Amino acid sequence: MSNKRWTLTFLFLIILFLYVFIQFIWTSKQMEETVEALDKRVSLHEEPPHFILIAQEFDNPYWRKVEKGAQDAAKKFQVEVEYVAPLRTSIEEQIKLLEKAIASKVDGIIVQSLDEEAFTPIINKAISKNIPIITIDTDAKASRRLSYIGTDNFAAGQLLGKTVVDMTTGQQKIGVIIGSESSDNQQERLDGFLSVIKQHPRLEVVEVQASNISRIQASIQADIMLRKYPDISVMVGTSALDATGMTVAVKNLQRSDIQIFGFDDVEETLLAIKKGEITATIIQKPYEMGFIAVQLMSKHLQGQPIPNVYFTSCKKVDASNVQMEVTP
Ligand code: BGC
Repeated sequence: MSNKRWTLTFLFLIILFLYVFIQFIWTSKQMEETVEALDKRVSLHEEPPHFILIAQEFDNPYWRKVEKGAQDAAKKFQVEVEYVAPLRTSIEEQIKLLEKAIASKVDGIIVQSLDEEAFTPIINKAISKNIPIITIDTDAKASRRLSYIGTDNFAAGQLLGKTVVDMTTGQQKIGVIIGSESSDNQQERLDGFLSVIKQHPRLEVVEVQASNISRIQASIQADIMLRKYPDISVMVGTSALDATGMTVAVKNLQRSDIQIFGFDDVEETLLAIKKGEITATIIQKPYEMGFIAVQLMSKHLQGQPIPNVYFTSCKKVDASNVQMEVTP
């Protein structure tokens, strides 16, 4: 081949190469722009995942802490949390809210399961419809819920029992007020409490009544109990507002000799410990329960594994450490 033909072929190849190269760059750029535009469209239209948190009672200070934790986690993990609850505690109302949440096809439900028998079939129905459910505060162990976040209620009851053993001396008659006869968490706490008290013959539980998680009811029940058994010297409450309710009855009856033990760290309880009106309380972690429940539900939606049970901690607070308790 002559030199001229070589040069022409070489030039032709160079031009061909440049053409293919420019085409390649242009197509890649076009593709990049298309993907970017699609991404923008998706992020403009895609709603964040929507979770429903079903509490026991709407304005209860304990549940407001759970809600705060859940809303803080919602901000952090870019999801939406809708807080719903009956105005006054009611299993039927809670079940209606759960049914409604399932029907509205939310992305996840976080629910307190007050009564395992009643809640299990509904929780299982949601799971079979691919709506994930996490139980909070009170578990439904037999159901197909993904996870339980909350206190180990039997152990918390035992801690309450040990606290009464450690902070009392001599023969004592005890009156107990639980949040509700039909709530599993209250029954578990009572069982844990009694399992410890039974080992100490100097301590005797003379009566157990329920407050329906109402401060006023706790006060009324305490009043009736103290009139019926004037030799009661220790009163114990197992839900958030029971102990402060008892302080009202004790004051009305001018019984300054009674030691009161309660549950949770609502502000009034901590204040009453500072004033010496309540001897001690077992505090749970409601804020953490709400936060972790939302965090784990978000993880689950991203396809990550989550634990079957996540126990939040409990501890005893009395006059010696009440100053350190700052609760969100
Ligand atoms: C319990 C909750 C209950 C609340 C009522 C807490 O101790 O864990 O189940 O709803 O008390 O005040």
